[in-house]
Amino acid sequence: MSVEVEFLGHSTFEIHSGEHRILIDPFFTGNPQAKKSADELNPTAIVLSHGHGDHVGDTIAIAKRTGALVIANYEIVTWLSEQGVENVHGQHQGGGFQHPFGRLKLTIAFHGSMLPDGSNGGNPCGLLFELPEATIYFSGDTALFSDMQLIGEAGIDLAILPIGDNFTMGPDDALRAVQFLKPKQVVPCHYNTWPPIEQDAHSWAKKVDAETEAKTHVMQSGDVITV
Ligand code: NI
Ligand code: MN
Repeated sequence: MSVEVEFLGHSTFEIHSGEHRILIDPFFTGNPQAKKSADELNPTAIVLSHGHGDHVGDTIAIAKRTGALVIANYEIVTWLSEQGVENVHGQHQGGGFQHPFGRLKLTIAFHGSMLPDGSNGGNPCGLLFELPEATIYFSGDTALFSDMQLIGEAGIDLAILPIGDNFTMGPDDALRAVQFLKPKQVVPCHYNTWPPIEQDAHSWAKKVDAETEAKTHVMQSGDVITV
Protein backbone atom coordinates (compact mmCIF):
# COMPACT_ATOMS: atom_id res chain seq x y z
CA MET A 1 0.00 0.00 0.00
CA SER A 2 1.17 3.51 -0.73
CA VAL A 3 0.00 7.08 -0.38
CA GLU A 4 0.02 9.76 -3.03
CA VAL A 5 1.28 13.23 -2.18
CA GLU A 6 0.32 16.06 -4.53
CA PHE A 7 2.17 19.39 -4.47
CA LEU A 8 -0.15 22.33 -5.10
CA GLY A 9 2.38 25.17 -4.90
CA HIS A 10 4.28 27.08 -2.17
CA SER A 11 3.51 25.03 0.96
CA THR A 12 0.22 23.43 -0.07
CA PHE A 13 0.00 19.64 -0.36
CA GLU A 14 -2.76 17.05 -0.53
CA ILE A 15 -2.22 13.52 0.76
CA HIS A 16 -4.35 10.74 -0.74
CA SER A 17 -4.59 7.75 1.59
CA GLY A 18 -7.37 5.26 0.88
CA GLU A 19 -10.62 7.25 0.74
CA HIS A 20 -9.03 10.15 2.65
CA ARG A 21 -7.87 13.38 1.02
CA ILE A 22 -5.90 15.44 3.54
CA LEU A 23 -5.27 19.00 2.38
CA ILE A 24 -2.40 20.83 4.12
CA ASP A 25 -2.15 24.65 4.31
CA PRO A 26 -4.55 25.32 1.38
CA PHE A 27 -3.25 28.53 -0.21
CA PHE A 28 -4.72 29.04 -3.69
CA THR A 29 -6.07 32.61 -3.97
CA GLY A 30 -3.05 34.87 -4.49
CA ASN A 31 -0.59 31.96 -4.65
CA PRO A 32 1.60 32.55 -7.73
CA GLN A 33 2.43 28.80 -7.87
CA ALA A 34 -1.18 27.55 -7.68
CA LYS A 35 -2.42 25.77 -10.79
CA LYS A 36 -5.77 24.85 -9.25
CA SER A 37 -8.35 27.10 -7.68
CA ALA A 38 -9.81 26.53 -4.23
CA ASP A 39 -13.16 25.36 -5.64
CA GLU A 40 -11.49 22.40 -7.42
CA LEU A 41 -10.44 20.76 -4.15
CA ASN A 42 -12.63 18.26 -2.33
CA PRO A 43 -10.71 17.28 0.79
CA THR A 44 -12.04 15.12 3.60
CA ALA A 45 -9.74 16.90 6.07
CA ILE A 46 -7.82 20.19 6.12
CA VAL A 47 -4.81 20.53 8.40
CA LEU A 48 -3.16 23.87 9.17
CA SER A 49 0.38 24.33 10.50
CA HIS A 50 0.00 27.97 11.60
CA GLY A 51 -2.01 31.13 11.18
CA HIS A 52 -0.17 33.06 8.45
CA GLY A 53 -2.13 34.02 5.35
CA ASP A 54 -0.05 31.87 3.00
CA HIS A 55 -1.06 28.80 5.08
CA VAL A 56 -4.63 29.49 6.28
CA GLY A 57 -5.28 30.60 2.69
CA ASP A 58 -8.66 29.45 1.39
CA THR A 59 -9.49 27.26 4.39
CA ILE A 60 -12.75 28.99 5.29
CA ALA A 61 -14.23 28.76 1.78
CA ILE A 62 -13.15 25.14 1.23
CA ALA A 63 -14.29 24.03 4.68
CA LYS A 64 -17.72 25.66 4.32
CA ARG A 65 -18.27 24.20 0.85
CA THR A 66 -17.08 20.65 1.60
CA GLY A 67 -17.69 20.23 5.34
CA ALA A 68 -14.15 18.82 5.63
CA LEU A 69 -12.83 18.39 9.16
CA VAL A 70 -10.38 21.22 9.90
CA ILE A 71 -7.55 20.43 12.31
CA ALA A 72 -5.19 23.07 13.71
CA ASN A 73 -4.06 24.46 17.04
CA TYR A 74 -6.72 25.54 19.51
CA GLU A 75 -6.44 29.28 18.80
CA ILE A 76 -6.81 28.82 15.03
CA VAL A 77 -9.80 26.47 15.24
CA THR A 78 -11.48 28.89 17.68
CA TRP A 79 -10.97 31.70 15.14
CA LEU A 80 -12.34 29.49 12.34
CA SER A 81 -15.40 28.58 14.45
CA GLU A 82 -16.13 32.26 14.99
CA GLN A 83 -16.28 32.61 11.21
CA GLY A 84 -18.77 29.82 10.78
CA VAL A 85 -16.55 26.79 10.18
CA GLU A 86 -18.38 24.07 12.08
CA ASN A 87 -16.37 20.88 11.72
CA VAL A 88 -13.15 21.60 13.61
CA HIS A 89 -10.75 19.76 15.88
CA GLY A 90 -8.22 21.60 18.05
CA GLN A 91 -4.92 20.08 19.12
CA HIS A 92 -1.65 21.55 20.28
CA GLN A 93 2.10 21.06 20.26
CA GLY A 94 3.04 17.65 21.61
CA GLY A 95 -0.48 16.28 21.32
CA GLY A 96 -1.51 13.46 19.01
CA PHE A 97 -5.00 12.23 18.11
CA GLN A 98 -6.34 9.26 16.19
CA HIS A 99 -8.37 10.69 13.31
CA PRO A 100 -10.29 8.68 10.67
CA PHE A 101 -7.22 8.93 8.36
CA GLY A 102 -4.64 7.98 11.01
CA ARG A 103 -2.77 9.54 13.90
CA LEU A 104 -1.74 13.19 13.68
CA LYS A 105 0.63 14.72 16.19
CA LEU A 106 1.35 18.44 16.28
CA THR A 107 5.04 19.07 16.85
CA ILE A 108 7.01 22.16 17.78
CA ALA A 109 8.00 24.73 15.17
CA PHE A 110 9.89 27.99 15.58
CA HIS A 111 8.04 30.73 13.69
CA GLY A 112 5.06 33.09 14.09
CA SER A 113 1.34 32.34 13.76
CA MET A 114 -0.61 35.61 13.64
CA LEU A 115 -3.88 35.19 11.74
CA PRO A 116 -4.66 37.29 8.63
CA ASP A 117 -6.84 39.77 10.59
CA GLY A 118 -4.23 40.22 13.31
CA SER A 119 -5.85 37.74 15.75
CA ASN A 120 -3.68 35.56 17.95
CA GLY A 121 -3.02 32.31 16.09
CA GLY A 122 -1.29 30.58 19.01
CA ASN A 123 2.00 28.84 18.39
CA PRO A 124 3.07 27.44 15.01
CA CYS A 125 3.19 23.68 14.60
CA GLY A 126 4.72 20.94 12.54
CA LEU A 127 2.57 17.99 11.47
CA LEU A 128 3.51 14.35 12.02
CA PHE A 129 1.13 12.00 10.20
CA GLU A 130 1.22 8.31 11.06
CA LEU A 131 -0.92 6.95 8.25
CA PRO A 132 -1.56 3.23 7.64
CA GLU A 133 0.84 3.32 4.67
CA ALA A 134 3.51 5.84 5.66
CA THR A 135 4.79 8.30 8.24
CA ILE A 136 4.95 11.84 6.86
CA TYR A 137 6.48 14.85 8.62
CA PHE A 138 5.53 18.34 7.40
CA SER A 139 7.69 20.73 9.38
CA GLY A 140 5.69 23.84 8.48
CA ASP A 141 7.45 27.18 8.48
CA THR A 142 10.25 26.81 10.99
CA ALA A 143 13.83 27.45 11.89
CA LEU A 144 16.15 24.49 12.25
CA PHE A 145 16.01 22.90 15.71
CA SER A 146 17.99 19.98 17.08
CA ASP A 147 14.89 18.23 18.50
CA MET A 148 14.18 17.22 14.90
CA GLN A 149 16.32 14.25 15.93
CA LEU A 150 13.52 13.18 18.31
CA ILE A 151 10.89 13.61 15.60
CA GLY A 152 13.05 11.45 13.34
CA GLU A 153 12.77 8.59 15.82
CA ALA A 154 9.23 8.05 14.49
CA GLY A 155 10.87 6.59 11.35
CA ILE A 156 9.94 9.09 8.66
CA ASP A 157 9.11 7.91 5.15
CA LEU A 158 8.68 11.44 3.75
CA ALA A 159 9.77 14.81 5.16
CA ILE A 160 8.44 18.03 3.61
CA LEU A 161 10.72 20.93 4.52
CA PRO A 162 10.97 24.65 3.68
CA ILE A 163 14.20 25.73 1.99
CA GLY A 164 13.33 29.32 1.03
CA ASP A 165 15.38 31.14 3.68
CA ASN A 166 14.35 34.62 4.89
CA PHE A 167 11.12 33.42 6.64
CA THR A 168 12.17 29.81 7.36
CA MET A 169 15.14 27.47 7.14
CA GLY A 170 17.31 28.10 4.13
CA PRO A 171 19.07 25.39 2.12
CA ASP A 172 21.98 24.84 4.54
CA ASP A 173 19.76 24.49 7.60
CA ALA A 174 17.31 22.32 5.66
CA LEU A 175 20.22 19.99 4.83
CA ARG A 176 20.99 19.79 8.57
CA ALA A 177 17.30 19.06 9.15
CA VAL A 178 17.49 16.08 6.78
CA GLN A 179 20.54 14.84 8.70
CA PHE A 180 18.57 15.11 11.97
CA LEU A 181 15.32 13.60 10.68
CA LYS A 182 16.80 10.77 8.56
CA PRO A 183 13.74 10.46 6.29
CA LYS A 184 13.67 7.99 3.40
CA GLN A 185 12.43 10.70 1.03
CA VAL A 186 12.37 14.49 1.20
CA VAL A 187 10.50 17.22 -0.69
CA PRO A 188 11.47 20.91 -0.49
CA CYS A 189 8.79 23.62 -0.32
CA HIS A 190 8.23 27.30 0.55
CA TYR A 191 10.67 28.66 -2.07
CA ASN A 192 10.47 30.60 -5.36
CA THR A 193 6.97 31.88 -4.57
CA TRP A 194 8.27 35.44 -4.19
CA PRO A 195 11.68 37.11 -4.71
CA PRO A 196 12.84 36.97 -1.04
CA ILE A 197 12.64 33.15 -1.05
CA GLU A 198 14.21 32.36 -4.43
CA GLN A 199 16.33 29.20 -4.27
CA ASP A 200 17.86 26.63 -6.60
CA ALA A 201 16.07 23.51 -5.40
CA HIS A 202 17.89 21.22 -7.83
CA SER A 203 21.32 22.10 -6.49
CA TRP A 204 19.98 21.64 -2.94
CA ALA A 205 18.61 18.24 -3.94
CA LYS A 206 21.97 17.20 -5.38
CA LYS A 207 23.66 18.08 -2.10
CA VAL A 208 21.07 16.22 -0.02
CA ASP A 209 21.34 13.15 -2.23
CA ALA A 210 25.16 13.24 -1.94
CA GLU A 211 25.39 13.91 1.80
CA THR A 212 22.45 11.96 3.27
CA GLU A 213 20.61 8.66 2.74
CA ALA A 214 17.43 10.48 1.72
CA LYS A 215 16.09 10.55 -1.82
CA THR A 216 15.00 14.05 -2.83
CA HIS A 217 12.09 14.94 -5.09
CA VAL A 218 11.92 18.46 -6.49
CA MET A 219 8.22 18.81 -7.28
CA GLN A 220 6.53 21.28 -9.58
CA SER A 221 3.06 22.52 -8.73
CA GLY A 222 0.67 19.76 -9.83
CA ASP A 223 3.20 16.92 -9.45
CA VAL A 224 2.27 13.78 -7.53
CA ILE A 225 4.68 11.37 -5.85
CA THR A 226 4.00 7.98 -4.35
CA VAL A 227 5.37 7.26 -0.89
NI1 NI B 1 4.53 31.52 8.07
MN1 MN C 1 4.77 30.78 5.09
